[in-house]
Amino acid sequence: MVSSSVFISTIIVLLFSPLIFGEDLKKLYEVQVHKEFLASNTYLTFAHRLATRGVYHGFADFFFDSAIEERAHGKKLLDFYNVRNRELLFKDVKVDETAATMEDLTKMIQAAEYMERQVYDNLIEVRLAAHIEKDYPTVHFIESQMLEEQTTALKYMYDLVKRIERNSDNSTILLQMMDQDLRKKQVKKP
Ligand SMILES: [Fe+2]
Repeated sequence: MVSSSVFISTIIVLLFSPLIFGEDLKKLYEVQVHKEFLASNTYLTFAHRLATRGVYHGFADFFFDSAIEERAHGKKLLDFYNVRNRELLFKDVKVDETAATMEDLTKMIQAAEYMERQVYDNLIEVRLAAHIEKDYPTVHFIESQMLEEQTTALKYMYDLVKRIERNSDNSTILLQMMDQDLRKKQVKKP
C-alpha cells in the first residue's frame, strides 16, 4: 500500500514538475520582467523629451530604439514562461519622478547605465536561482538568449558614461559629437 502511494506521488511529481517552480526563482523572474519594462518606459520618456527639445536627435532615436529592445526582452521572458504555463504577477511599472522629469542628457545616460547594470545583476540572480532549483531549461535560456546581449548593452552604456566623465570639461561638445555619430549609424540602417 505504501509503495503504491509512493509510486503514485512520484508519477504526479514527474508529470507536474515542469509546472512547479520555486518561489525564489519566481520572484526574481518577475523582477526581471518588471525591470525590462521599466527600462523600456524610462527610455521612452527620455526619447520623447530629447525629441521635443530637438537638439539631440541621435540620442532621441537611440532611446526610442532602446525602448523597443527592452520591451522585446520583457516579451521574450514572458514567452518563455507562457509555453511552460507558469504564471507571474505584475504590479505597476512606474517611471519615478526623477527620471520622468529629467532634462539633462548626461544624467539620462548615467541613469540608463544604472538601469542596464540592475537588469544585468538581476539576470545573474535569476540564472543562479534557476541553477539552485535545478531548472536547467531556464539556466540555458538565460545564458543563451539573454546574458550576452545584456552584457553588450551594459558595456555600451558604461563606455558612454566613462567617455563623458573623462571629458567633463567639454561635455557639451562631446555629446554633440556622440549625437552626430549616432545619427550617421541610424542613417546607415536599412
Ligand atoms: Fe533588456
